[in-house]
Amino acid sequence: MCGIVGYIGHREAYPIIIKGLKRLEYRGYDSAGLILYDGNDLKLSKTKGKVSDLEEISKEITTNGTIGMGHTRWATHGVPNDVNSHPHLSNSGNLAIIHNGIIENYEPLKKELIKRGYIFHSDTDTEVLVNLIEEVQKKEKLKLGKAVQVALNQVVGAYAICVFDKQNPDEIVVARLGSPLAIGVGENEYFIASDASPFIEYTSNAIYLEDEEMAIVRMHKPLKIRKIKDDSLVDPYIQELQMNLEQIEKGGYDHFMLKEIYEQPNVIKDTYRGRLHANKGLIQMAGIEDNLEKFLNADRILIVACGTSWHAGLVAEYIIEEFARIPVEVEYASEFRYRNPIINKNDVVIAISQSGETADTLAAIKLSKEKGAFVFGVCNVVGSSISRETHAGAYTHAGPEIGVASTKAFTTQITVLTMIALRLAKAKGTLSNSDFHRYLQELELIPEKVAEALTTNDKAKEIAAKFKDAPNCLYLGRGYNFPVALEGALKLKEISYIHAEGYPAAEMKHGPIALIDEHMPVVVIAPKQGHYDKVVSNIQEIKSRSGKIIAVVTKGDTQVRELADYVIEIPNTSDALSPLLTTIPLQLLSYHIAVMRGCNVDQPRNLAKSVTVE
Ligand code: F6R
Repeated sequence: MCGIVGYIGHREAYPIIIKGLKRLEYRGYDSAGLILYDGNDLKLSKTKGKVSDLEEISKEITTNGTIGMGHTRWATHGVPNDVNSHPHLSNSGNLAIIHNGIIENYEPLKKELIKRGYIFHSDTDTEVLVNLIEEVQKKEKLKLGKAVQVALNQVVGAYAICVFDKQNPDEIVVARLGSPLAIGVGENEYFIASDASPFIEYTSNAIYLEDEEMAIVRMHKPLKIRKIKDDSLVDPYIQELQMNLEQIEKGGYDHFMLKEIYEQPNVIKDTYRGRLHANKGLIQMAGIEDNLEKFLNADRILIVACGTSWHAGLVAEYIIEEFARIPVEVEYASEFRYRNPIINKNDVVIAISQSGETADTLAAIKLSKEKGAFVFGVCNVVGSSISRETHAGAYTHAGPEIGVASTKAFTTQITVLTMIALRLAKAKGTLSNSDFHRYLQELELIPEKVAEALTTNDKAKEIAAKFKDAPNCLYLGRGYNFPVALEGALKLKEISYIHAEGYPAAEMKHGPIALIDEHMPVVVIAPKQGHYDKVVSNIQEIKSRSGKIIAVVTKGDTQVRELADYVIEIPNTSDALSPLLTTIPLQLLSYHIAVMRGCNVDQPRNLAKSVTVE
């Protein structure tokens, strides 16, 4: 969703804000804006478009003021245009606000404010909020912090906000409910941002506000955090950041997505390091060990997630049921939360989320907790809302994922979930000792096999050149590779805007086969292990209808090679672990097609990395 960044201290604010916005641009990129305080007045600059457009129009701003706020937008209320861009000013021009989230009751509030003479220039809910704060401030003669608090208690929705009052220019008031907000604590300076990336080169101390908390960030003063509802003081908890600058830069790659695809051998290893001990025949994960009984006594495991994380959940369904023989159901968090689901005390809920901030997944967790279920999180972002809201969990160690299309998060999620399945299988005795050891050894070898799968890059590029103009594409897979087909199709549509669908290969006969003709590329995932013969039959069916077949096969395969138009070879592994390899050429294929079509790979249209609104 939107990205927010603020600075108050002794350095020039402008370069910090611009650089911070560039790092947060993955969160939203339909418009951008900033406001600086020059010691006397406010300098506002905002535009539809990217942070680079903002930089262009901000050239005339000449101030070396040391207070500023900036915003990258992902539109919710009002189309992306200059006027709807943030920051927004109150009617008096004294207050400035940046906001990530949605004010759901903005309409009645706006009507009331209009009755009181307020004028609105934009279509945004944010302009309503800043004027509501101003109205409270005026009517009740309150300082900014108090006025923000009173106003927020009238608001329904989600927000992370920064508010500045030029009449009291040594403070920025910040608050959060449902959207993340980090405060970097330096020496005589504070940084405010949606995540810590804008300030890691300045300080490694950060405070993450919890929901329903606010803070007055004041020059030369220690930070005070309060509960928005009852004004009680909260002890600030300062965390040491684990992120480093290198992790959030492109490191010589053309795009973050490509860099992140290539990071997979290392981050999969980072994810199992210290947990998988193949030589000792052990899996040790603190979150699982501490709660093993809950998993073993579970009637079933419910997995809730969205998008790519949901696909990782589907892979986990196959693996957990196969290895540990515990029934698993996988749910879209957005459906689950609204359909009055049956959740029992004996259910274990696994919530999967890269960002740890997805609003629907967070709501599904809260619902599950209310019903008494034990909730386990699989998250990538340390300290994120989901990691805090769950009873226990296991982090994926993918490092910051900046490309909007998820790649390394997917494979590291599968790695964690596979280890969980193996640990449960060991405890339940549902896998033979020899199979258990074999899987541990195979999992340990996965990073080098992923590295080998990455050598298909040139082949993927060659195939991409052939199909870059196709209007549609089908992805087929069976068993463990059915979710990979869904994921392959999602990757293609989100970054290249080609319509793509994933199906279980056998389902093709029940409808989608009608789409196949000589113009339809069909990507078939056909590794040697698993339902190979069945998939070969499906390939025959496509071939006899003249479809163009791109097959992902195990190295040395000859049978599919004879039928397919193009083959991409991956190393051999067991059926259950094959998604970790088959997904690699599909990521590369989507990447190259998107680049060849001139699409913005890292910031695809209409998308945002972290979906903090439902
Ligand atoms: C697709 C993608 C999204 C996310 C989804 C869930 O490439 O990135 O589908 O997977 O928005 O996000 P997280 O995992 O952060 O909860």
